[in-house]
Amino acid sequence: MDDLIEAARDAIDDAYVPYSEYTVGAAIETADGDVYTGCNIENANYSNSLHAEEVAVGKAVSDGHREFERIAVTSGKRDGVTPCGMCRQTLSEFCDDSFEVITDGDDPTAYELGDLLPTTITREHLDA
Ligand code: THU
Ligand code: ZN
Repeated sequence: MDDLIEAARDAIDDAYVPYSEYTVGAAIETADGDVYTGCNIENANYSNSLHAEEVAVGKAVSDGHREFERIAVTSGKRDGVTPCGMCRQTLSEFCDDSFEVITDGDDPTAYELGDLLPTTITREHLDA
């Protein structure tokens, strides 16, 4: 079993999901090999709920990381869930098209971020 999927599965244990009861875990690997995990954290107003991938990226970026190799995402159901559109956009801020997104279904499946989110807005559009 890939260590990154294992880390994503472990992160599920901390999910706070009193509303949907749908647990999600994520583990992102930095360019220098560190791993940051995240789980979903729901809120009574629903829209403030944090997604597992956002939490993992937020922890890594707030620790100074800016370059990433891959992310593993799993739900408690291991149903092959992929990052939602918002999370794909969040990942695209720091990760290029070849960034690997690993999902956890019957068999782990690897996608490229560029296939999951083609032709999106990037910092180049803003001349930043
Ligand atoms: N969720 C994630 O954590 N990541 C995604 O990209 C998809 C959705 C969470 C949000 C909510 O807590 C639950 O899954 C059901 O949508
Ligand atoms: Zn999401």
